[in-house]
Amino acid sequence: MLPVTHLFSFVIRLCVCVGVFLLQTVTGTLALSVFTAVLGSLEFGYNIGVINAPQKIIEDDYNATWLHRYGEPIPTGTLTSLWSLSVAIFSIGGMLSSFCVDGINRTGSMLINNLFAFIGGSLMGMSKLCRSFEMMILGRFIIGAYCGLASGLTPMYVGEIAPTSLRGALGTLHQLAIVTGILLAQILGLESLLGSEHLWPVLLGLTVVPTVLQMALLPFCPESPRFLYIIRCQEHHAKSGLRRLTGRQEVGDMLTEMKEEKRRMDMERKVSIPELFRSSLYRQPIIVAILLQLSQQLSGINAIFYYSTSIFTKAGVQSPVYATIGAGVVNCAFTVVSLFLVERMGRRTLHMLGLGGMCVCAIIMTMALALLDSVPWMSYISMLSIFGFVAFFEVGPGPIPWFFVAELFSQGPRPAAMAVAGCSNWTANFIIGMCFQYVADICGPYVFLIFATLLLFFLIFTFFRVPETRGKTFDQIAANFNQHSAGGMMDMDMDLSMGMGNGMDMDIDKPS
Ligand code: GLC
Repeated sequence: MLPVTHLFSFVIRLCVCVGVFLLQTVTGTLALSVFTAVLGSLEFGYNIGVINAPQKIIEDDYNATWLHRYGEPIPTGTLTSLWSLSVAIFSIGGMLSSFCVDGINRTGSMLINNLFAFIGGSLMGMSKLCRSFEMMILGRFIIGAYCGLASGLTPMYVGEIAPTSLRGALGTLHQLAIVTGILLAQILGLESLLGSEHLWPVLLGLTVVPTVLQMALLPFCPESPRFLYIIRCQEHHAKSGLRRLTGRQEVGDMLTEMKEEKRRMDMERKVSIPELFRSSLYRQPIIVAILLQLSQQLSGINAIFYYSTSIFTKAGVQSPVYATIGAGVVNCAFTVVSLFLVERMGRRTLHMLGLGGMCVCAIIMTMALALLDSVPWMSYISMLSIFGFVAFFEVGPGPIPWFFVAELFSQGPRPAAMAVAGCSNWTANFIIGMCFQYVADICGPYVFLIFATLLLFFLIFTFFRVPETRGKTFDQIAANFNQHSAGGMMDMDMDLSMGMGNGMDMDIDKPS
């Protein structure tokens, strides 16, 4: 009983400390700006989750349309292809647009991006009325494009306006909004709410609500001062943005930090995507960024979120739809845990903890599924291991890769790096969405062993190659990578294995 009491009091004290800290540091303008930005993430999550529950009902409508047009029921193969396309084209939209995240201004880009959400949401919402599955598929593609841009723009903007000490916590809000969106879609998608024959167009069209809200609020959010000062050289505007965001008149220290970053950037040439790979300065951080994104997607999380209902059914769970909502609740709860821990324990530790925990849960899940026929209560173990899998995901691999990429690069190469990282994330997302069902059919209960192996690989990679960035300025982080590159790959390899490899921070603290 005692350890439980201790744990409880620790959690309460932690919450109070974090609460007091946040109240002292977060001004109204900062809160409003972060809230407005993560409305895009909410919409991203909503569109991940919305398609799962009403699948059968929408398929029936596709069939009705086919019947109306051609006077015969839709062939099964055609229906499967149309449905797979409706699901997967979302990631293709995301993949293509995430590559377009660029150095144009942040708030303006978010505002324009809302056009995609508006068009996509309207097309999906009107598709039943117009008896057109083409409109639905096009709508999913366009809303995917919106989400691809939002998945780059939101973490970049939030990372740039957040004070260094809160960058991780505020960065985690992007993921918190995504998981809230998923949960909201799962609940609203229940047949007794909006997932019904007549109301599913409303369910899909509802995605325009956060769009309208974001469009209304964006004019009140300051443009990123880092962008204004470092890219646009508008010191006066950057200063007034900083004053609004921090609530302080004196922002000289922050400007000095930006000046230093700008000075370095002016010495660099403009960084294009190919250059990220060619230049020895950026090669190491871009590899870290890509692998972190891959660790998020190839962990297998979306196998759960896209196919949870059928996974729970195979695992012998009585009410798969409610178990799916249970997974959504665990997903949200542990993102909040990560929010509180990320500035205390650091990114690297939490990411490794998450990957390790997911790997163990995947192994337990495999054993439980394999034993299900002979031991009926294994269905509970498989359900618990799926919840554990989701919980560990949200501790690290869910939120951290999104904002970590923005932290790894200075202002110059950041947009190109976000584009490459975002595109890797979406491509892996697409691959899992398309292939999981087929691979699961071939491997049966052993399918999650593939993810366990990948998770182990990413854990080892993180241990040896990923630096800690907590509490470091962008410039310190970038400068450290540059130092390592300038010293040659051999030096870097030695430092990586000696410094980072054994769990120590890179020597980012030293002024360079
Ligand atoms: C992350 C992933 C997304 C996944 C979600 C689950 O945001 O990028 O693909 O569905 O987490 O919570």
